[in-house]
Amino acid sequence: MLTRTLSLLRATEAAAIAASEWIGTGDKLNADKAATEAMRDRINSIPGFSARIKIGEGEKDHSYGLFYGETLGQKRDREEVAPLDLAVDPIDGTRPTVTSGPEALSVIAVAEPNSLYTTKEYYMNKIAYGPEIASKLELDLKDPPARIVELVSAVTGKAPHNIVVCLLDRDRHKNIIAELRQLKVRIKLIQDCDISGAIATCLPESGIDLMYGIGGAPEAVITACAMKCLKGGFKAQVVKPDGTVVDPKIYSIGDMVPGKCAFVATGITNGSLLRGVRFTQFGPVTNSVMMRSESGTIRWMTTYHGN
Ligand code: FBP
Repeated sequence: MLTRTLSLLRATEAAAIAASEWIGTGDKLNADKAATEAMRDRINSIPGFSARIKIGEGEKDHSYGLFYGETLGQKRDREEVAPLDLAVDPIDGTRPTVTSGPEALSVIAVAEPNSLYTTKEYYMNKIAYGPEIASKLELDLKDPPARIVELVSAVTGKAPHNIVVCLLDRDRHKNIIAELRQLKVRIKLIQDCDISGAIATCLPESGIDLMYGIGGAPEAVITACAMKCLKGGFKAQVVKPDGTVVDPKIYSIGDMVPGKCAFVATGITNGSLLRGVRFTQFGPVTNSVMMRSESGTIRWMTTYHGN
């Protein structure tokens, strides 16, 4: 069912290369347009493929399409093919792309037909943690930070001062950061791209134990797909940016992506997860990751695209 993952990876590669033309230009709109168009063209050229966007570009960002409901793939709109669900983010990290900052990537998640959670809200409160913790317990967004730190400490055997929590550097996180610091936990602040922050909790070499706090709702659904493939833990709740709860339900990975899924991402700028696009004598070079929940495979790929 999800055997077209490599073709989707070509779409994140194309979007990353297109976006990389705009690195450092300060021009968010054109960066987004280039990545969006490259991603759409590539997905539309996948033979036998039909998918509908469930998580797309936000009108909040004045994007150039790839909105909710658009169907893509060479077999789009052919009734005999049930469209897969797609979650796309041609650039996660438009700001770091156009300011030559770190961690920007292009990402797609694909799931079984009519399976992905979707919301019109912009923000979710999130907690992500790696497979070591997820195999032993579920962390709960309702728990106060002290309880969460106590549980993480018990499972990992790390004293609080050795636990690293990653958060988006936003004013809305001031109180939680203060609380975590009182518990002596180390904080890694990121400027953008909480999908990478969540994935980092599953990579022991990252040193990050938890990703916590309020970020984009579309990114939460994409993160759920990645965390399912990585066997990590992830919970999210729809909130306003100030933390006001919009929907009391706390969504688990199973709520957001109940069936099989796959996740692909290509670095635009250098980050902890992926290297950014480089231009060499062999043409552009990209670094990507591709994972599938069904097989549990995680493939890291460096592609020389030729001139
Ligand atoms: P975009 O580049 O797609 O806008 O997202 C970047 C990002 O940092 C996400 O990774 C994160 O979830 C969201 O923005 C946080 O939103 P805000 O910048 O409004 O706090």
